[in-house]
Amino acid sequence: MSNDLFDLTGKVAVVTGASANGGVGHALALGFARYGADVVAADIDEEGARVTVEEVRALGRKSMAVYCDISKPEDVAKLFTEVDERFGQVDILVNVPYALPSRVRPHELTLEAWHKTLSVSLVGYFLCAQQAIRRMLKQGTGGSILNIGSIAGVSALGRGNFPYSVAKGGVNQMTKELAVEYAGQGIRVNAILPAQILTPGLKKELLADPRFGDRLRQRVLVGIPINRMLEPEDLVGAAIFLCSDAAVAVTGVLLPVDGGNLALNAGGSHTWPTE
Ligand SMILES: NC(=O)c1ccc[n+]([C@@H]2O[C@H](COP(=O)([O-])OP(=O)(O)OC[C@H]3O[C@@H](n4cnc5c(N)ncnc54)[C@H](O)[C@@H]3O)[C@@H](O)[C@H]2O)c1
Repeated sequence: MSNDLFDLTGKVAVVTGASANGGVGHALALGFARYGADVVAADIDEEGARVTVEEVRALGRKSMAVYCDISKPEDVAKLFTEVDERFGQVDILVNVPYALPSRVRPHELTLEAWHKTLSVSLVGYFLCAQQAIRRMLKQGTGGSILNIGSIAGVSALGRGNFPYSVAKGGVNQMTKELAVEYAGQGIRVNAILPAQILTPGLKKELLADPRFGDRLRQRVLVGIPINRMLEPEDLVGAAIFLCSDAAVAVTGVLLPVDGGNLALNAGGSHTWPTE
């Protein structure tokens, strides 16, 4: 074991949703590389994943881009076969992508949109975890799985988040079940629960929507005691910690990285009335 508990040298990290779009997967892929890991960047945006690979290589790590739609079992199987062939090991899996095809009230939600949301945001996480766990068991050296959840998996957001929040609630429980199942084999499974992050996805999908826009930004800030929305980079420290030897006895944890959002009661306030 290295003296540096956070050192990931010699580890292979598979990061899904890792295209170079300035989102969470992108920040995490580069973060893992900075801490020494080789990185597999998997995404439906193949060109974007290739850019991430170039950035990882510029940091001196090995890297490979793979097209993979995590909701498709055949794509996920192919991803891990390619990882086997190129790296021969999987030490870390980071599940990042989500889908929320339309924001409508639950009574208007189509079954198709429900299935689409869950197939990426929940089933896809399971498919990737299953492939990674099979390899980690065979390697016999343990491993670490990190799911990107959300505060939406713990408390309700309304505003058409229904299937997304249900998926994230499932991700939370998947994290705990897998943690318990595989703790004995040294496979740790944890989740990070972020509050609103200024990713391209959020900017395009939510803040640009005239129904939400700037009013929503102000509303969101009321719920975040640090009084700013998060940046993708804010997740890197927690992710490295959870996937490194620093967290050797940490498993089944749902770690809010939310600027205090879940600590704040809906009737509470992080500013005084006079301010
Ligand atoms: N942005 C936020 O405010 C926020 C808040 C809490 C949690 N999260 C969570 O953080 C994670 C990342 O969010 P983001 O805003 O960075 O997303 P994003 O939309 O910016 O990026 C997601 C990436 O996943 C890829 N992707 C989409 N569907 C895919 C699929 N089926 N298979 C493989 N790749 C796919 C996209 O091409 C993109 O590269 C998600 O799990 C999201 O739920 C985000």
